[in-house]
Amino acid sequence: MPVLTYKILEKTKFNEISTTGAEEGVLSILIKTDNENYKAQVYSELVANRLAMFLGIPVALGVPAKHSETKDRLSFASLIAFEDDREIYDFTHMDHRSLEPPRHVPKGILQEMDHLREVIKLTKLYPLETAFLTVFDYWVGNEDRSYNFKAELSKGNRGIIFALDHGSSLLACKSTIDQSLEQLEQPSYPRFHPFQKMVNPLYAGEIIERIINMPDWAIESATIFDEAIGNVIPMDQIALFEVLRVRKKYLRQQIQNII
Ligand SMILES: Nc1ncnc2c1ncn2[C@@H]1O[C@H](COP(=O)(O)OP(=O)(O)O)[C@@H](O)[C@H]1O
Ligand SMILES: [Mg+2]
Repeated sequence: MPVLTYKILEKTKFNEISTTGAEEGVLSILIKTDNENYKAQVYSELVANRLAMFLGIPVALGVPAKHSETKDRLSFASLIAFEDDREIYDFTHMDHRSLEPPRHVPKGILQEMDHLREVIKLTKLYPLETAFLTVFDYWVGNEDRSYNFKAELSKGNRGIIFALDHGSSLLACKSTIDQSLEQLEQPSYPRFHPFQKMVNPLYAGEIIERIINMPDWAIESATIFDEAIGNVIPMDQIALFEVLRVRKKYLRQQIQNII
């Protein structure tokens, strides 16, 4: 997969003690925090990021961040991908290039989806990445994939596709942590996915194997910390670790239903 790069807004000065000519600068970020409707947004973004990195899922990176004025409040800084030199299709409400649905939509595909024509094209251009993302979303309980990915639709010899926004998955798939854990215990959740019925079975099988074989130590290091992350205390982090292990067992059946 090609490497996703991020946007440097400004280079401010040379670092005084660097021996290699390093410069200081400012990255472009989107700052996300816990709030009333998404009590565990920061934690869930962070965990989804770490799990995705381990598994080889193409997601935009983010880091835990604090502002000097609000030191006590942890945020998640989603690093804005550098897209200026590429023709990236946005797939959000902000992109009005094509909101015309195709005339014949294959059975089982979400009919009311915006940008459906482009989504169909996308799954054909990027069968591996879209299959990987779909299976990952089922595992982490992400019903909010629509609009939260971007890609080049004329692929050339590279082709960039990346997902973002996992702030409504894991312990933030419902507004409270307890409700989210209850939701994650349901094998029927998520109930739908924008790529459903367009998933390549070979690649889906490959990523299911990766997730099922992901060692406990790796899931643990992505989910359990020695301290609270935003509103999520270690006890809830352990509960997420356990439920993710259980959710591995549902994956094959869940994906079979949407192939
Ligand atoms: N890492 C990123 N790179 C590029 N664009 C981003 C990135 N993160 C967010 N965005 C843009 O900002 C929008 C809002 O971010 P998102 O995390 O989806 O917030 P919300 O939770 O409100 O949906 C996204 O749809 C996307 O267009
Ligand atoms: Mg979003």
